[in-house]
Amino acid sequence: MVLKWSYVTRFIFDKPQKNGTVLNRYTLKKCLGVGAYGMIYLCTDNRSGKKYVVKQLRPSKGKKQREWERFKDEAELLRKIDHHAIPALMDEFRIENQYYYVMEYVDGDNIEDLLFFQNQMFTELEALIMMKQLLSIISYLHQHNIFHTDIRPPNVIVKQEKVHLIDFGLANRIDQDNEKAVSNYRQDDYYDFGQMILFLMYSKFKGKKSKKRTWLEELSLHPETVILLKKLLGISEPYTNVNEIKKDLNIAMEALKEPKRV
Ligand SMILES: Nc1ncnc2c1ncn2[C@@H]1O[C@H](COP(=O)(O)OP(=O)(O)O)[C@@H](O)[C@H]1O
Ligand SMILES: [Mg+2]
Repeated sequence: MVLKWSYVTRFIFDKPQKNGTVLNRYTLKKCLGVGAYGMIYLCTDNRSGKKYVVKQLRPSKGKKQREWERFKDEAELLRKIDHHAIPALMDEFRIENQYYYVMEYVDGDNIEDLLFFQNQMFTELEALIMMKQLLSIISYLHQHNIFHTDIRPPNVIVKQEKVHLIDFGLANRIDQDNEKAVSNYRQDDYYDFGQMILFLMYSKFKGKKSKKRTWLEELSLHPETVILLKKLLGISEPYTNVNEIKKDLNIAMEALKEPKRV
């Protein structure tokens, strides 16, 4: 068996720290996850007793200056964002050569866990209602020239039916004058948003996924949802702004609310 180097480094260098460890003024309660870049801990602030999430750049990544700077940029970007569905940056600190930042804790489940571990299923309408919330977060970000570029199920957390977006590790703030870059990044987010919708639509899919069949054949979606998805995924003329997406999303939602004709 050939072991991937990334797995080796993860187990040798990137072992999560033990519960009870005190990081600055935060006591580590639980490791919430080890992602591609970060180790995420649920912690209690020793001063206020409040729960927060402390994100540490994986030590194996921290050896490279580029990754180190990227991690600092991630915290910096979070500091500039002020949105109720995005965790606010609370604090940042360094211990020895490790860099950490502290953010609000979103006490919910990410969409990947909801589907894979809790087998949650969404109807087409429920999925679109949920994705409308995500679209309004994307709209806020794009208005501020911020492009997330990593909109994926593990980066979207649902807490009491409210959608939150996390993980700004790959996000970019682009100067509005750089039209080409803005347009590319915008399309990236639209595409990922379309993939997210598809992912939710598959939650109710019972058959065996086949490489030969496309989502159009496997999922029998409402024609208005198909129009939306084809544009988001670049199969037909792509969207140029979030309002166009909002409009089509609302049309699809209304169509799904209508009673079925027999
Ligand atoms: N603020 C938060 N509140 C609750 N859970 C979080 C928070 N930030 C991260 N997580 C959990 O930790 C996981 C990994 O975090 P993430 O920031 O996406 O790391 P990476 O950059 O390595 O992908 C997420 O999928 C999510 O389940
Ligand atoms: Mg992530």
